[in-house]
Amino acid sequence: MKTSVALIGFMGTGKTAVGRRLAERLGKDFVETDAIIEQRAGKPIADIFREDGELAFRELEIAAIKEIAGRRNQVVAGGGGVVLNWLNIQRLQGDAVVVLLTATPAVILRRAAAGGAARPLLNVPDRAATVRNLLKFRRPFYTRAAEITVDTSRLSLEEVVTGIINRLKEYEGFSF
Ligand code: S3P
Repeated sequence: MKTSVALIGFMGTGKTAVGRRLAERLGKDFVETDAIIEQRAGKPIADIFREDGELAFRELEIAAIKEIAGRRNQVVAGGGGVVLNWLNIQRLQGDAVVVLLTATPAVILRRAAAGGAARPLLNVPDRAATVRNLLKFRRPFYTRAAEITVDTSRLSLEEVVTGIINRLKEYEGFSF
């Protein structure tokens, strides 16, 4: 039986907020891969991207997922790019049901604006085009990895969390 949930999805789809609340309601631990990466690297994500480059960040991300994937009874909020390495998904799927959060580009742009410097990939002149292009490129990766999908665009935090819990109840092989 799986005992964990892994939240994947594009920046601004609510992985962190939903993950924290879902963990609370399920009585499981909450873990954020970006936070682990920052701890291990000893600096913020933006500095890792700027000083070491995106590839170095992806290596740290792989290491972070490897480190946490063996643990049970956790809700993992992954960074938006974890799906780019299939190994990450395979490792997460060992104990976690993979839940994809989606949102429309407009909603993503609105929410990501609040994220500021913490999202180096969106620190570009034409954010709308970047979001569109990244979404187009990544959509097949997200879809392939997802076992449950929830569109968060028009739902409140609590509605998203309740929606996930209801879907988990129908999921054979998940232990609450
Ligand atoms: C990234 C998303 C970010 C963070 C990094 C790269 C991505 O996480 O991991 O900036 O490639 O989509 P959030 O999705 O939590 O913003």
